[in-house]
Amino acid sequence: MVVNVQSFAKINLGLGIGVLRADGFHELRTVYQTIGLHDVIRVSVGRGSGVEIRCNDPRVPKDESNTCYRIVERAMAALRARGRVVIEIEKRLPVQGGLGGASANAVAALLALERALKKKLPPPDRLRIAAEVGSDLPLFLVGGTVLGVGRGEEVYPMPNLPAIDCVVATPEIGVSTPKAFADWDLLVANASELCSARAAEGGRPHVSFAKLTLHPASDRMNEFGRVLSAWLGSLSRSRRKSGRASASSGVPVSKGRGRAGNPLLDLVRTGIENDFERVVFPKYPELREIKRVLQRAGAVYASLSGSGSATYGLFASRDAAEKAAARLRKDGIPATATTTLTRPQYWKKIFD
Ligand code: C5P
Repeated sequence: MVVNVQSFAKINLGLGIGVLRADGFHELRTVYQTIGLHDVIRVSVGRGSGVEIRCNDPRVPKDESNTCYRIVERAMAALRARGRVVIEIEKRLPVQGGLGGASANAVAALLALERALKKKLPPPDRLRIAAEVGSDLPLFLVGGTVLGVGRGEEVYPMPNLPAIDCVVATPEIGVSTPKAFADWDLLVANASELCSARAAEGGRPHVSFAKLTLHPASDRMNEFGRVLSAWLGSLSRSRRKSGRASASSGVPVSKGRGRAGNPLLDLVRTGIENDFERVVFPKYPELREIKRVLQRAGAVYASLSGSGSATYGLFASRDAAEKAAARLRKDGIPATATTTLTRPQYWKKIFD
């Protein structure tokens, strides 16, 4: 039996980078949001042993370094299952794109494997195995709007928010995430040095550098948390006011999509930013320009996703999103209009 699964991408609604930890990872605060763009994963289990990866994209590794390979190997052992697992990846999402493609593929492969074997891992084991393979995997075991803390692997489901139109630009630029983190560390270290030197000379620190140093990593993390708490608080207040709440999530239910009152838009309007923009935009100015095009085309919020290169905009209507995507494509930049996926939509569509 071949099990087909849709492997949906994510964007980051803000991403705060904190301190470099002793384990080599950075402390993070981010809000992940699943979206409609996806790859397709097909899994079958036959006679024999081992894992075989097949993929139409030559840039995708077929060996043990592939995230699907790694998660399936661990899951087979945890499930005490035998057989040869064949995983076919139909790649539509960019490789190294900031959309969590490889991480989503791995979680999709795990879900398909469980279905093929008619066996399920207990949810805590699933989360543990996913986190072992990569920081960005566990979010795909939750779906919808997800708070990510720790190194990004500690995930909490956020209230279900109505879907909203978005445009995702996927330029042909591969940004290495470890390199982007290293560039961030360098930026913070240089900013510290420059501020100390200016202070020694009796001068005032450069404003943008001072922002990095005078607000140390832990402060920025706390600020991210405060903004989110305030937003969640206002969600519950509006729920009490309107008296309308979804039975499952306990948060207000807006009728229709992309209305001005969409709580997702209220969240991004709180001023959450993606810290990676500070190091990725100077290196790839064309990505900053894509963000500007999205903003000029009416995006309510536009940002780099993860460490990029995918850059997205959220729009108040499908029409505005389609026009913005067409505008980017006219400039030769691949861009697609899609929508965010709520948690129920995400889980319904995975096995569609
Ligand atoms: O967990 P994942 O395999 O996606 O991480 C890839 C690399 O990105 C890590 O080896 C590390 O260099 C960097 N990283 C980090 N801090 C995080 C997540 C990833 O420094 N929170």
